[in-house]
Amino acid sequence: MQKTGAIGVFDSGVGGLSVLRHIRQLLPNERLIYVADSGHVPYGDKSREYIEARSLTIARFLQQQGAEAIVIACNTASAAAAATLRNQFDMPIIAMEPAVKPAVAATRNGIVGVLATTGTLASARFAALLERYAGEVEIITQGCPGLVEQVEAGELAGAQTRALVGQYTRPLLARGADTLILGCTHYPFLAAVIADVAGGNVALVDTGAAVARHLQRRIQEELPSRKSAHATDEFFTSGDAGQASRIMSALWGADVVVKQLPQEFM
Ligand code: DGL
Repeated sequence: MQKTGAIGVFDSGVGGLSVLRHIRQLLPNERLIYVADSGHVPYGDKSREYIEARSLTIARFLQQQGAEAIVIACNTASAAAAATLRNQFDMPIIAMEPAVKPAVAATRNGIVGVLATTGTLASARFAALLERYAGEVEIITQGCPGLVEQVEAGELAGAQTRALVGQYTRPLLARGADTLILGCTHYPFLAAVIADVAGGNVALVDTGAAVARHLQRRIQEELPSRKSAHATDEFFTSGDAGQASRIMSALWGADVVVKQLPQEFM
């Protein structure tokens, strides 16, 4: 296997596949390596130090596999660890954040709801994002403990998932939000249920497509002479490889074989 030319992508678990699908669509010739840190999911209720340590470990693995750019396909890990990764790795590090800017542009009534992990909502990076882009728009935030676990289990539309989505979404709707930000990369996989609860007049926004475009720009600008390797998708997990293969095949829409991360990266 060629050990260069790859783009590494990681998340606390399977949620980052909602970003990876946009990357695959935009960059069909790239070798993509995805790590689901499902052995440590959820990140949302972990300390910044913990998430930083996991992000560093995974970035080292991706570099060892030939990654020449890394996408943190996780809002929580971006808030906790993007600065540290940029300090320690001499390659483009693409981070992400809840879609506050596009939501502020899209809202018609000036009320926006944010669904995200408690870690993201409590972060300095999120506070800075609101400071910069909220302007006159009222932004209502809602932490969503338990939703990530439902997606990890492949429970995208069952009764418990619907109940949780309802519990978290209704207070935002009751306050008049006409735009909901899916501020965690797991949540696009729940978009059908969220849209069902929210009704047709509420817009859902996330940043997966924008992150893919940003990645494309960064590699064109910063790695102009690189040659991408053969287009392949490679998947790794720190969780159970059998379960990950099942769930990730369903989310990816094609059969994928997920390998276990080597022990030293677990
Ligand atoms: N997918 C994640 C995010 O975008 C993290 C979820 C979690 O592990 O809590 O925030």
